[in-house]
Amino acid sequence: MQERISPARRIAGAVRLPGDKSISHRYAMLAAIAEGTTRIRNYSTGADCQSTLAAMSALGAAVERQAGEIVIHGRGLDGLAAPAADLDAGNSGSTIRMLSGILAGQKFSSRIYGDESLSRRPMDRIMKPLGEMGATIAAREGRFPPLEITGAELRPIEYTLPVPSAQVKSCVLLAGLYAEGATVVREPIRSRDHTEIALRELGADISVAPGVITLQGRPRLKGCDLAVPSDLSSAAFFIVAALLVPESDLVIQGVGLNPTRSMLLDFLTSIGANIKILQVAEVNGELVGDIRVSNAPIRGGVIEGAMTTALIDEIPVLAVLGAASENGLTIRDAGELRVKETDRIATVVENFRRMGIAVEVSPGGMVVPGRQRFRATGFDSFGDHRIAMAFAVAALRGDGESTIENADSASVSFPQFFSMLRRVSAAT
Ligand code: S3P
Repeated sequence: MQERISPARRIAGAVRLPGDKSISHRYAMLAAIAEGTTRIRNYSTGADCQSTLAAMSALGAAVERQAGEIVIHGRGLDGLAAPAADLDAGNSGSTIRMLSGILAGQKFSSRIYGDESLSRRPMDRIMKPLGEMGATIAAREGRFPPLEITGAELRPIEYTLPVPSAQVKSCVLLAGLYAEGATVVREPIRSRDHTEIALRELGADISVAPGVITLQGRPRLKGCDLAVPSDLSSAAFFIVAALLVPESDLVIQGVGLNPTRSMLLDFLTSIGANIKILQVAEVNGELVGDIRVSNAPIRGGVIEGAMTTALIDEIPVLAVLGAASENGLTIRDAGELRVKETDRIATVVENFRRMGIAVEVSPGGMVVPGRQRFRATGFDSFGDHRIAMAFAVAALRGDGESTIENADSASVSFPQFFSMLRRVSAAT
């Protein structure tokens, strides 16, 4: 599907975005292995989180879709059943990596696969710790989906993450639920902590010290009422749109502001963005608030080290902002971008090339000079939701109408993206 985007004169109004993708996955998985009923409000509408729901239902948890909420009838830690068919993770790395932790602790074997993009993404990062815990996992060429997981009685491990990844951390913690004793995960670089928060919310015994998470195995998780905040990573596209288009003033309501995610707002503020948090509350252990962003000159800067991990999903759209900034943007330590839904360094650079934006590439990052002109062009998402949305935002500043091929991939995380973008964009 192709979308056409015209330049915008202003981004304005108030929007409420769908639920956070990361949190939705975790709530659905944990609800299925909890005891009792869990009601989840504002569950992500993205295809990725529907893949997780379908998988949990194939594993025996009854899932009902009611007005504005999802109801999951939990089966308890040991109540999942062998699926009748292979599990389909679709495009979702979070589904296959995190769910594998649960599958590893089952008394049955299962097979989980994904689409073409997911089939190229490395799974050895979860196979190693799950193997140490006692599960047997076979993969194509030893590291790619499909995965054939033979569940086992798991033993707890102490595991230091070799790559900063919340998916790997979560996988080990979910497997740790099935292991008698304390599972310890050490993370040298802090990654999003939604799993730790959700586990605590459902009653697990988990303690977190800087860089070390300790989970006691075999808890009785209890179903409860949960509300998912709006996705800050989806909000990032609207925030950058408001920073790129003059005269913008936008309010985004009910957004997740978890400190392991909100580096985006700190970074943008540090380089000149005019961002205000209007009110903050805590919901199910997660911070939630309204964000007001208005247009201001952006200086540019450097993203590296722990900051790269904290901003990993926002880097494509930040690179777009960098090209319009005063001094440009340097991105380092971002080798992980090469193993996302696409090689995001390559797909950003290709779209930059099409619009005549200069960029210098390195294996682990890029340097985007500032003050560049945005030429209208034909973009391609290359099947990657965040690339579709990042370049839709770039197109708002184009010098004419742009097109985006394979724009429907946005629905992986944000099916309403293009209609909402149109709603807040005033045409030139
Ligand atoms: C996610 C973690 C990140 C992120 C992905 C969602 C999660 O992946 O890029 O979109 O929900 O835990 P990695 O764990 O591979 O860094």
